[in-house]
Amino acid sequence: MTDFLPLNGTDYIELYVGNAKQAAHYYKTAFGFQALAYAGPETGVRDRTSYVLVQNKMRLVLTSPLNSNHPIAEHHKKHGDGVKVLALWVDDAFQSYKETMSRGAKSYMEPTTLTDEHGEVRMAGIHTYGEVVHLFVERKNYQGAFMPGFIEWKSDYNPKPTGLLYVDHCVGNVGWDQMNPWVKFYEDVMGFKNILSFDDKDISTEYSALMSKVMSNGNGYVKFPINEPAEGKKRSQVEEYLDFYEGEGVQHIAVATNNIIETVTDLKNRGVEFLKIPATYYETVLDRVGKIDENLKPLSDLGILIDKDDEGYLLQIFTKPVEDRPTMFFEIIQRKGAKSFGKGNFKALFEALELEQDARGNL
Ligand code: FE2
Repeated sequence: MTDFLPLNGTDYIELYVGNAKQAAHYYKTAFGFQALAYAGPETGVRDRTSYVLVQNKMRLVLTSPLNSNHPIAEHHKKHGDGVKVLALWVDDAFQSYKETMSRGAKSYMEPTTLTDEHGEVRMAGIHTYGEVVHLFVERKNYQGAFMPGFIEWKSDYNPKPTGLLYVDHCVGNVGWDQMNPWVKFYEDVMGFKNILSFDDKDISTEYSALMSKVMSNGNGYVKFPINEPAEGKKRSQVEEYLDFYEGEGVQHIAVATNNIIETVTDLKNRGVEFLKIPATYYETVLDRVGKIDENLKPLSDLGILIDKDDEGYLLQIFTKPVEDRPTMFFEIIQRKGAKSFGKGNFKALFEALELEQDARGNL
């Protein structure tokens, strides 16, 4: 069967935030993103500002409204800072729209062609869970910095990159009994496959439980795990997210690195805060995962987790939420053969998460 929605990867991720100028400073300073493009009053956009940042293959767009009755202001009032757009890089945006709409997608943006002196970008968009949307972006005939409507952003402030490479996966939190309907959406409407599942039995019920199914497109370049809360002895971390985000949305963005020890050391030095893992984790971890290339000491000093599957192992770590609401956070991941998502770390991870949740009075 041919793939009716061929994807080249993630094109960009757009966050609606309260103060895009300051958020851009944070992502440059703390995460090492580079200035790429800008849109706002100076470029003829009267109602919002957008700062586009890049690091290797990952583009982040930060957008704020300039008046209170703007739809983005409504979005921000309800959700706080959060992901609005998971844009997908395609060769044919209009065909992507046609194929997904004919399979039941709900339209967000009719097929649109944007042009400027650097060429054209074709786009279209559909809704997914919560208020999140997927935009199909076709840029093969475009040579500008980002897309028409944006100017190249040349900044005098350019902190060094931290080794972040590309988006490995992007996780959505959905409500009770909503995981399977969204799994079906990704299967039926977007042609994704369910490549892994975790039910509440994978995660001891002593801990704040969740269920998760990992959806992947045909070539594996785009992976969207979908979480829903599960009943446990304590309040599910997914439920805490849903309460504070006031709806379904993106829980975390996992970003790949080729050297997690260097990347995380750098991020920590720049003020990024990570979940703390109990030292006892490292007493037994090698019994579980076997031999690894890295020394255990720097991994345990930084709190980096290790897991393995049939194809290799992976190293991963999770930031604390990057907003005041306990909502979205980042994962930094280095894959050394493993294609999985760190199931062996769930227990240690959830214990660490619970400590944070408890400190917020939300357990
Ligand atoms: Fe993840």
